[in-house]
Amino acid sequence: MSSGMLYGGDEIGALVFDPGHHSLRVGYAQEDTPKAEIPSVVGVAPGDPIKLESEAKPDDSNISSTPSSWKYYIDTIYLHTPRPNMELHSYMKDGMIENWEYFEKMMDYSYEKIIQSESHFHPVLFSESPWNQRQKREKLTEIMFEKYKVPAFYLVKNAALAAFANGRATALVIDSGATHTSAVPVLDGYVISNAVVKSPLGGDYLVLRAREMLESLGLDLTPSVLIANKEVVRDKDKPRYTKKAFSFDITNSWMTYMTKKTVQDFQQSVLQVSESPYDERVAASIPMVHHEFPTGYHQDFGSERFKLAEGLFDHAMLGAGYIAATSAGMCDVDIRPALYSSVVLTGGNSLVQGFSDRLSKDLSSRTPGSMRLKMIAANGTVERRFGAWVGGSILASIGTFQQMWMSMQEYQECGKAQIDRKCP
Ligand SMILES: Nc1ncnc2c1ncn2[C@@H]1O[C@H](COP(=O)(O)OP(=O)(O)OP(=O)(O)O)[C@@H](O)[C@H]1O
Ligand SMILES: [Mg+2]
Repeated sequence: MSSGMLYGGDEIGALVFDPGHHSLRVGYAQEDTPKAEIPSVVGVAPGDPIKLESEAKPDDSNISSTPSSWKYYIDTIYLHTPRPNMELHSYMKDGMIENWEYFEKMMDYSYEKIIQSESHFHPVLFSESPWNQRQKREKLTEIMFEKYKVPAFYLVKNAALAAFANGRATALVIDSGATHTSAVPVLDGYVISNAVVKSPLGGDYLVLRAREMLESLGLDLTPSVLIANKEVVRDKDKPRYTKKAFSFDITNSWMTYMTKKTVQDFQQSVLQVSESPYDERVAASIPMVHHEFPTGYHQDFGSERFKLAEGLFDHAMLGAGYIAATSAGMCDVDIRPALYSSVVLTGGNSLVQGFSDRLSKDLSSRTPGSMRLKMIAANGTVERRFGAWVGGSILASIGTFQQMWMSMQEYQECGKAQIDRKCP
């Protein structure tokens, strides 16, 4: 290492950031789980907002003030309160960071409120999507060294990290998140970029379908934060509740976000992928699941549970099994056996009940008979949802990795393009 110094290890806690469309995972390397999972949206409202009665604090923005007159609201409790003219924005697009201004607000918040330590003390490892662009990688490198003055930095593909987290350096990683599902071959810790296959079917797609279905049933999806009180009603009876009154108009983007949360709760507790392609009769014979909405309305859900989730598998060229087989097929025949024998499942959406069994079945029907197929899916929900973060936590704390960091000195000597050499 050019600087002759070691970074990371116990003395200087390295930080791991794993950004996604659903959330940003942030915490200390070597720990088992991230310190925080922060929703990947930033609430932006004009400065000097009308004070809400519940908040008597002089400054109700949770990010230290900026020269502009905008206020930023980050993290669940701040986002879940409606505010006059507060619009919610995502800083992610296609799995990559798109809006750097909002992203920096998120980083400021992470250091101030989650890490509660100054950025120049900690080496930082960031995960990135397998198709991240060169210009974006360099931009992130520049921000981390210039603005946050990190002593060392590193970028690793999230799929490679998820493979590490599952004890593999070579694997076919199936990552099903909010906005997409991808099949990513990883060989000796490196992604085979030209064999990455992705589909736009993930958790957000399920939310969309579930929302359409619930609205077609005429269900009221008012989020719980807007409900002042509700009565207990009988199964399928019209809900009886009163709404909280606000002296201002609630923005559409806030309403859309909160409605999505309501549908996500439904999706996570009710949907299930059936073991074989959807069959009305089989689905109807499986016990129903009861669900109560924030309004107090409740009912049983039966075959629709399976019908909705089937969308993740029944698309001819977008189903999870199809993209997995396609990706493996794009790799050199010599390495296919190693990939098929280490199919790693990760991402929050892979937690939909029945997902791993169905993928396993679907993929085995597409696997050449001579090939041994083994699926590795962490049992714990934390390990599954935070696979890439956990892999980063492990990687950043191993001894032999310490010589890999790109140091501040290297950045100053070689510039941001050095990241493309250090972290291919
Ligand atoms: N227990 C669960 N059951 C079903 N779905 C879940 C569960 N937990 C999380 N999800 C879904 O997983 C998705 C988030 O997954 P993940 O955290 O992997 O996404 P992300 O990496 O932030 O997003 P992306 O990969 O699209 O950038 C959401 O759609 C969420 O509803
Ligand atoms: Mg993801």
